[in-house]
Amino acid sequence: MSTSIELPNSIVIRDLAQKIEKSPIEVIKKLMANGVMATINQTVDFDTAAIVMAEYGFEAVPEVREEVKPAEAGEVPLWRQLIAGEDAKKLMARPPVVTILGHVDHGKTSLLDAVRQTDVAGGEAGGITQHIGAYQVERKGRTITFLDTPGHAAFTAMRARGAQGADIVILVVAADDGVMPQTKEAIAHAKAARVPIIVALNKIDKANANPERVKQQLAELELVPDDWGGTTMVVPVSAKQKQGIDDLLEGILLVADNMDIRANPAGKVMGTVIEAEVDKSKGTIATLLVQNGTLEAGDIVVAGRAYGRMKAITDYKGKSVHKASPSTPVAVMGLNEVPSAGDIFQVVGSEREARAIVEERVQEDKTKAQTRKKVSLEDLFASVQAGETKELQLIVKADVQGSLEPIMLELEKLGKGEIGVKVLYAETGNIGENDVMLASASKAIIVGFNVQADVAARRLADTEGVSIRLYDIIYRMTEDIEKALKGMLEPVVVEKVIGRATVLAVFSASKLGRVAGCRVTEGELRRNAKVRLMRGPDVVFEGEMASLRHEKEDVREIRTGFECGVGFKNFNDIQVGDALVCYVLEKA
Ligand code: GTP
Ligand code: MG
Repeated sequence: MSTSIELPNSIVIRDLAQKIEKSPIEVIKKLMANGVMATINQTVDFDTAAIVMAEYGFEAVPEVREEVKPAEAGEVPLWRQLIAGEDAKKLMARPPVVTILGHVDHGKTSLLDAVRQTDVAGGEAGGITQHIGAYQVERKGRTITFLDTPGHAAFTAMRARGAQGADIVILVVAADDGVMPQTKEAIAHAKAARVPIIVALNKIDKANANPERVKQQLAELELVPDDWGGTTMVVPVSAKQKQGIDDLLEGILLVADNMDIRANPAGKVMGTVIEAEVDKSKGTIATLLVQNGTLEAGDIVVAGRAYGRMKAITDYKGKSVHKASPSTPVAVMGLNEVPSAGDIFQVVGSEREARAIVEERVQEDKTKAQTRKKVSLEDLFASVQAGETKELQLIVKADVQGSLEPIMLELEKLGKGEIGVKVLYAETGNIGENDVMLASASKAIIVGFNVQADVAARRLADTEGVSIRLYDIIYRMTEDIEKALKGMLEPVVVEKVIGRATVLAVFSASKLGRVAGCRVTEGELRRNAKVRLMRGPDVVFEGEMASLRHEKEDVREIRTGFECGVGFKNFNDIQVGDALVCYVLEKA
């Protein structure tokens, strides 16, 4: 009978060896025998590790972990699943969490302002300073939590993880504009998170408002208004004239009354990261929405890859608090780095435990990055032919507004062909992490015109498999995209230097012609790689090796510190002191 050992989804070779009490070398050999090349610090997945373990007579069983991960779209949000596991007797009513979604300029922010001003009970009429991207309103002695989600970080999280944190979505639709692309997207988010939608039919004060037309459009999207015999509450409002705000708040409470909005204040502490940023003097400040349990100052929190002891907790008014119960949004200080909006956070018992969870996430992300299919311009056409893509999604960044306009015009023209081109957003400024996050969430490519990608963005793009392409001439950009759409793009090939050597002597060999006696100073020289011979700043030869020898033996490669003889194809003019660069060409 074999002994069973618990294994995580992925494991570093060193740890695997330790678990089964074998030397890492032995484990590496076993892996090689199974066709897997891995070094001691590399990670293998569960199945691979299981094969090795089986050879030593151990049975691998999946490790049981209580780790919290963001739910996939279409699934019930994970925090809700977890709360479903709470003792029913301990569940208590909590404020409903309401997220406002809708198309650009349909009046989301105005509506939120109007709601806050109606909050006379709170005595804050018009004067609430919004310290964090969320706030609470009192209504008939009941509290409602509103999530304000402006800015790109939140936009990304909204797209990526939908309205996961919400109990109710308020879909703002302007009565004069009707259902627009982001309206549809918002509906999709709410449906994916299985959150009920209340429609706020805004701007009814406008002369060209056409509420009936909007209701027709909503009905076509399976949101049949209640006054048409359907189940979707549609509340006509004017954020500008503060009309219908009471009805909307009533509506929210009514919908909330028909839902099971409860949590266990004494249960497992967890929730969602609403937004996070670095403050120069205070360090990381994150806005968290507590969804179960009670968060307390001094707790150790893990959120995504960040963790830390909560030093200070403040409520939405910026007032310091000791505790935050379910549905309370708070700003916290003390995380060691900035988590992503939409990350699920949890309280753990010790910093050690927190570090272990983060370390495992880092490893998992690495494994994922290795297996993830990169969305790149080069393989766009292949995925179109395979039926995986019908549209090229782009994020455009440019140096100035003046260059964005012609770029957008050109892209629009390109998008008229068989494959569409959709610009998710176009903006001025360098490429940052936010852009990469959005690109990753929506499988988009980032194109930059006269801009740079910052270091953090590059790193994230690497792990997320996001393709960034930089241009300084507009037609090159459009030409590339056009070629990609037609499947004609040549892969971008970049040079990767693998070694350098210095010429110490020059020999004449009868068969080989003149040969450079070199010492390898960096990396390695490879017989089948390319070489360039430099004399000061000048390139005197560029091409292939005719021979590579170490002590009269032909070799395939030679490493740093060793001496060798290099002959060049059709080139003899070698001089002592020349520098040799050995490189390979790789697809970018
Ligand atoms: P984004 O955050 O950019 O997506 O826009 P938003 O949905 O938050 O819209 P915002 O509240 O900024 O309003 C956009 C414009 O519509 C502003 O000029 C508002 O003054 C105007 N507006 C908002 N609500 C109303 C309304 O009820 N009536 C009228 N006439 N104008 C409105
Ligand atoms: Mg707004």
